[in-house]
Amino acid sequence: MVAEVLLLLKEAVKPGLLTRELDVIADREIRRRGGVPVFKGYNGYPASVCVSINDQVVHGIPGNRVIRPGDLVSIDLGASVEGFVGDAALSVFCGDPPSERALELVRVTEASLYKGIEAAKVGARLGDIGAAVQTYVEAHGFSVVRDFVGHGVGRQMHEDPQVPNYGTPGRGLLLKPGLALAIEPMVNMGGYEVEVGADGWTVTTRDHSLSAHFEHTIFIDDDGPEILTAIS
Ligand code: MF3
Ligand code: CO
Repeated sequence: MVAEVLLLLKEAVKPGLLTRELDVIADREIRRRGGVPVFKGYNGYPASVCVSINDQVVHGIPGNRVIRPGDLVSIDLGASVEGFVGDAALSVFCGDPPSERALELVRVTEASLYKGIEAAKVGARLGDIGAAVQTYVEAHGFSVVRDFVGHGVGRQMHEDPQVPNYGTPGRGLLLKPGLALAIEPMVNMGGYEVEVGADGWTVTTRDHSLSAHFEHTIFIDDDGPEILTAIS
């Protein structure tokens, strides 16, 4: 459900769209499918989706901002279905990317998510996931955000453990069959430092460089990691 609705939101991005129109679609399409939008009301968060543009990293609140050509739009969506949560995010340009390097940022961030997922095997450790993401991102000259991390997923959106996008191979929690995680690299073109805005939610890069975000919910079993929020 999360994958389906996220795809609808991605396809809806166009010049002139207000970010709150994405929230209307998200809320309607989740409920229409029998799900519950889990972001709404979470610690007082006022919407069903997060829309973060350009130097906004995550947790942008949809509102009257107009999406313009060349904007990098990060969309993060969560829903609960039959008591279990799915959480996923993607970044997409409105129209053409503003530069070759901006396009590379998005490609590297998405690829780093798959590096992290590949590392999430039974017998590996949490640090292997973070290290896989970080190594790939930094090899391309970008930086990974430290202050926000991925997380366990289950009946609640945020469960233990925390899943950093940086780390040391071989360190941290041993990954066992049955563990569900949201892996969500947030990658900046400049420095990794971020700050939270006056609305108490919107996270931006401190140097106002561009930022991208991709997330999947995965389930780890003996056959390896299964992506639960992939478009099938
Ligand atoms: N994917 C984000 C996270 O895991 C979305 C939560 S935002 C909130 O933190 F709106 F729910 F707070
Ligand atoms: Co998440």
